[in-house]
Amino acid sequence: MVACVRSRSWVTDPELRVGLTASWIHNDWDCEEIRAAVEYAIQGEAARYFADRVLAKTSSENLPQDAIQGWWDAALFQLHQARQLSEWIAHTLEKDSHFELKAPWLVSLSRLVHRRQITDPDAKHEVERLVRKFVLPVMHEENASPDALRLLAILPTEEKQKALQHMLDGEATVENQQAAIEFWTASDPSLQAMVMDRWEGLPPPVRQTVLQQLVRNASGARLLLNRIESGPLEPKQIPVWVWQSLRGLGQDDILRRVAQWAPVVSISWEQESAPYREAWNQPGDASVGEANFRKWCAACHRVNGIGTELAPSLESYRVRPNEAIAMAIAEPSRDMDPKYEQHQVRTDDDEVFAGILTAQGSDFIEITTAQNALVRIPRTSIETWTTTGKSLMPEGMLQELGPQGLNDLIAFLRSQPRE
Ligand code: HEC
Repeated sequence: MVACVRSRSWVTDPELRVGLTASWIHNDWDCEEIRAAVEYAIQGEAARYFADRVLAKTSSENLPQDAIQGWWDAALFQLHQARQLSEWIAHTLEKDSHFELKAPWLVSLSRLVHRRQITDPDAKHEVERLVRKFVLPVMHEENASPDALRLLAILPTEEKQKALQHMLDGEATVENQQAAIEFWTASDPSLQAMVMDRWEGLPPPVRQTVLQQLVRNASGARLLLNRIESGPLEPKQIPVWVWQSLRGLGQDDILRRVAQWAPVVSISWEQESAPYREAWNQPGDASVGEANFRKWCAACHRVNGIGTELAPSLESYRVRPNEAIAMAIAEPSRDMDPKYEQHQVRTDDDEVFAGILTAQGSDFIEITTAQNALVRIPRTSIETWTTTGKSLMPEGMLQELGPQGLNDLIAFLRSQPRE
């Protein structure tokens, strides 16, 4: 065991680098210093040595797993810099037995592709060959990892188009459909348009990915607005966060179109706020506030040890300004985290469930209702599945509470928990 005192300068010598890499592979070194040194040492010849030897190791049980990924990242990057990546991939392709869809080296390669770091035409060619040989045939299977799918981004558009069709029509898991959309369609308007043509058939989590993708830049945003204007997408199904992101792009034409379609937020805190602010001038009654909390909020939120954790804990609101609390109640969907969007599922025996999507598997989805009940629905019995574009948190509670009720509630939120 080498003491953990080596500095990085120890590995500036090319021969020592190979030496260090070699002896690391044969020893159970496990300390931070050595890990960092190895990452640094994997340069030039050592990168090739590392890649060959580690790949050849059938079992890597004695290697510290958490460090391996970093080393592979370094090794493949270095191989590409040294223009040896294509040759190395060709070599691994010959030995099919090394191929595994979740292998760390594949993850590293996929990161290079994702960051558009593969510039050498030979390397690009080899990655394409690898993708066609190993990933395309299994991409719709459940064990195809999102990392493997990310590699497909390197293929020409027509091939991606076919692959995407296959993924969306076929039996691919929702998670992999999301990965395909996220990784393959970025800044490719023709693929984005193709996905939008299939909007009706996409399950809500996939729709969410599509929307997240489109609002990232102005061209995606314009495509989305075209679809809203020409009909297939109903403005009321578009979540509030999408309108906000569209506004955030700050383009005049987009702002104008959004103003035309975005539903007017049903209650605006600004219009309603005067009497509530007036009430804040008097101290609130925390015990009445506690009763209000139990009645209106405890089904979803927890604070001072009361309530459930279906929604975010309100502990942090103890010190937030009154305005922030009031606004969150007045306009629940305004700054909503998309994971709290309300889903609505109708089953083939005509039951309707509404709530947030808390789990999904290949043959079921799980909805948690506003009453904190878990409902597991087999995918085969889903008749329709939509999202409302709104938070699970109900609207209209501000009016129900009234100025005094809110003032008391705030007093309770700010009070310390009873022992
Ligand atoms: C049916 C469930 C439900 C009820 C009832 C409910 N909320 Fe919420 N609330 C949520 C969900 C879900 C979120 C997160 C999504 C969002 O911001 O709308 C949330 C968000 C919030 C936030 C913002 C939290 C954050 O970290 O962003 C505040 C503040 C809040 N609620 C206060 C209240 C108060 C006060 C009441 C009672 C008057 C209440 N809520 C009743 C579900 C609920």
